[in-house]
Amino acid sequence: MGFRILALILILISTTFLYLACVESRVRHYKFDVVQKNITRLCTSKSIITVNGKFPGPTIYAREDDTVIVRVVNHVKDNVTIHWHGVRQLRTGWADGPGYITQCPIQTGQSYVYKFTLTGQRGTLLWHSHINWQRATVHGAIVILPKRGTPYPFPKPDKEKIIVLGEWWKSDVEAVIDQAMRLGIPPNVSDAHTIMGLPGPVQNCPSQGYSLHVENGKTYMLRIINAAVNEDLFFKIAGHQLTVVEVDASYTKPFQTDTIFIAPGQTTNAILTADQGTGNYLIAISPFMDTIVATDNVTATGTLRYNGTLAFTATDVTVLPPRNATPVTTKFMDSLRSLDSRKYPADVPESVDHSLVFAIGVGINPCATCTNGTRVVADINNVSFVMPTTALLQAHYYNISGVYTDDFPPRPPTPFDYTGAAQPANMQTKNGTRVYRLGYNSTVQIVLQGTSIIAPESHPTHLHGFNFYVVGKGLGNYDPVDDPKKFNLVDPVERNTISVPTGGWTAIRFRADNPGVWFLHCHLEVHTTWGLKMAFLVENGEGPNQSIIDPPLDLPKC
Ligand code: C2O
Repeated sequence: MGFRILALILILISTTFLYLACVESRVRHYKFDVVQKNITRLCTSKSIITVNGKFPGPTIYAREDDTVIVRVVNHVKDNVTIHWHGVRQLRTGWADGPGYITQCPIQTGQSYVYKFTLTGQRGTLLWHSHINWQRATVHGAIVILPKRGTPYPFPKPDKEKIIVLGEWWKSDVEAVIDQAMRLGIPPNVSDAHTIMGLPGPVQNCPSQGYSLHVENGKTYMLRIINAAVNEDLFFKIAGHQLTVVEVDASYTKPFQTDTIFIAPGQTTNAILTADQGTGNYLIAISPFMDTIVATDNVTATGTLRYNGTLAFTATDVTVLPPRNATPVTTKFMDSLRSLDSRKYPADVPESVDHSLVFAIGVGINPCATCTNGTRVVADINNVSFVMPTTALLQAHYYNISGVYTDDFPPRPPTPFDYTGAAQPANMQTKNGTRVYRLGYNSTVQIVLQGTSIIAPESHPTHLHGFNFYVVGKGLGNYDPVDDPKKFNLVDPVERNTISVPTGGWTAIRFRADNPGVWFLHCHLEVHTTWGLKMAFLVENGEGPNQSIIDPPLDLPKC
């Protein structure tokens, strides 16, 4: 009898523990049906590729340490992949998603289950298609809440709102880029910007914009995501200040601003205090471009409305920064600092095993069949990356030769005045599928040096598989002697996508503690298409849990 009671008690205790463990970290299941959907924007209806018929797509909600399982089924004619932008994917490169880098695409009628754990991350990220220009319509938010019982390192906001920003083309986006590639010229800019999928009223098309309903006295955390294809954006709300608390799922030292500067692939959490009592206030986004490159200049608008305010009450407007407002972007980026608290320390690599200089930019190559006899190309260290037809991660894992070479140049082959006006004669690029090899746990510094061969331009550069620290930036050419003296190794911002200033450079550092093949590219999709991309190959370590896990059985075939 006593034994039975003891056994019962033991069972009770162990099930409670099991239950608690499950509550601690959970498995979250999602199903993504990739389907065509007719939607009307700018007063015209168009069929677009969506997830579950939604634009923007569904939000993934999870907590830090949860495992996320997403079954993606492709019901459209085009190939599909999904990338979980900013998710570290520790040892799970198979679930990262860039087409032909970590996986072959999911073909029509096929499915693939992405499975990954959100280790040591909390905040806002995004997911998006990672093949061709599909991410124009196939994207959505990822919200990673802190572990249960762990508070935010700032006063808990009363409510949270997701604000996904995007771009809209009247015509089919793949046709836009295909035509540009055939002719060797830049593609058409988009026809409108969107806030949660809505452009708001634009010329010749009055339409309902996004609205954010608030209650006086309450605080709101806005999870702002730039899912645009090619444009850096300014975001502003009339009559309200915003307090930035996190970027790219890393906490920052809070700072106040009236304007958010956000590049494609970046996310920003900002606290809004509804302290104006009553009224309607304009929410607006517009592009940033401080050089000669064309942008879509249509401002998207929405309304912040206080409870009890009527829809037709006049709206307080705001003035967005001019398109070329470099100082606004500089001020915003200079304000970003890691929180660097005891709980969330900035763990900046102090020494560097691989010191790399990547000259990044746009140039022109001869092309007999193109409109101007030339083709616009983009490159890193004179290599225009050529997409392979076998995914790099498979080639690496299964030792398939002939897919890539591991001789990606660590610095520009011929140094020149990168940001100078003179156009070097030898700037033709070479094509190649070249990766840079890193030993497990080695430390890396990359100076991303913008070039100005056609025109200098800001490049929001994204690294898969890692967060990096932004230790320095400057204008002109990077000086390897003097500039490192000014590096911030104490509390630099930690993120996964960084804007390299127009006509300047940015230095980032990270530790290669994630084995696999990891894409690095400009998150302006047009530059990626033109070849501004490369990949790191990080070798397995020797210890336990330092190797890539085995590929899932349903990994798509090319
Ligand atoms: Cu958000 Cu490789 O992309």
